[in-house]
Amino acid sequence: MTAQKAEKEKAAKRKRVVITVFIVLVFVCLLAIAAYFIKELIVSKYFFCKRSVKFIPIDQACDGTDDCAGGEDEITCLSSFMVNTTFPVRLTSARQVLQVYSPGSGWRSVCGEGWTQQHTETACKQLGYTYEATIGQLCDCLSGHFPTRVTLNTVCDESKFCLNSSVCTSGSVVSLSCSDCGEVGSQDRIVGGTDAFIEDWPWQVSLQQGGQHVCGGALVSPRWVVTAAHCFSSSKKELSRWRVVSGTTYIATLGGSYVDRIILNGNYDPAQNDYDIALMRLSSPINVGVSHKPVCLPPKAFGLPAESTMVVTGWGYLEENGKVSPSLQKASIPLIDRAKCSSPTVYGSAVTQRMICAGYMAGRVDACQGDSGGPLVHLNSSRWYLVGVVSWGVGCARERSPGVYCNVEEMLNWIHTIIEKTHTAYK
Ligand code: ARG
Repeated sequence: MTAQKAEKEKAAKRKRVVITVFIVLVFVCLLAIAAYFIKELIVSKYFFCKRSVKFIPIDQACDGTDDCAGGEDEITCLSSFMVNTTFPVRLTSARQVLQVYSPGSGWRSVCGEGWTQQHTETACKQLGYTYEATIGQLCDCLSGHFPTRVTLNTVCDESKFCLNSSVCTSGSVVSLSCSDCGEVGSQDRIVGGTDAFIEDWPWQVSLQQGGQHVCGGALVSPRWVVTAAHCFSSSKKELSRWRVVSGTTYIATLGGSYVDRIILNGNYDPAQNDYDIALMRLSSPINVGVSHKPVCLPPKAFGLPAESTMVVTGWGYLEENGKVSPSLQKASIPLIDRAKCSSPTVYGSAVTQRMICAGYMAGRVDACQGDSGGPLVHLNSSRWYLVGVVSWGVGCARERSPGVYCNVEEMLNWIHTIIEKTHTAYK
């Protein structure tokens, strides 16, 4: 009898303990969640000065004036660079003929005589490509001026290996294929659909702040992302707030890379959206794999005709004034003739040489808000090339208002100079 009573009491006690523990746990969880949201809220509106232990409005970080003691709020900020020198190495035309610049003689194709694998590797590295599997071929594809064997000045610094100037007797030039970019497996899973898989567009990244998708971007090497300059408006200039999420089809907010540099094109004009391009450097390179791969930069003078098929990808709005898409989308759109896009009934003089248009005059298919900074790519000889960067448009998918993209071909000199200057590019 008494033993039974004691047993019952014990059970009741145990129950009470379990309930109390449960309530405490729930309470702690709620507290943690609340703390997380409060922190997110504060962090999205304020910058914390560690040394002087105070908060300042986020707009005051990276505004050019020191608001924290020691100017802590002006240290980890984006920068902007104008490039007025000519980057001395380029690949030109769809044949990828290597050309070298010297102030005296301008651009000249490089003669194939004495060209070695070592030259190929250094030249590819110089152009921002990363590793192995680079192919240097001799090509009897002379166009324009006769090639002269030239010294690859800037290549010399890197490998202590140069070619001497002399006359090119064979007449064949070097065609380079720096092949660690733009290749993906077969893309036969989607027919006429709009859902996309990251494995097919492995350069696509999501640029985020406070767990929010802000802009798209494209990996052009394991450490560099090309995006749009207009993604970095006033509250978005501080580096530590950015994360670059790669390798995901469904937008994720965890596991993004940190950023140690954001460089805007020094000529960027927010009023006209001219030179709307920026480079972001990841604090450490991504591991290249099936869902993480750089896209190729286009050669100079790619010579793409109007109506060439392009693909634009991103997590942007599914309709004007809509919402960001949870899963990656793609759309095939044709390149639009410059004259047509600059006609008075379309965009007139708003379209500069640094812009290209793609889409349909009838509307219906287009990039939209949130796609900005993302890639417009073109498939050529089984490689994808970054032809444009999503920049602007009037509304989305409206009639006679196609998408306008930053013209990557016009920005190659800037891109190569920035990546070369910031040495660690090829690690
Ligand atoms: N500026 C927009 C953004 O910030 C992208 C605009 C693209 N618009 C268009 N109609 N193609 O996301």
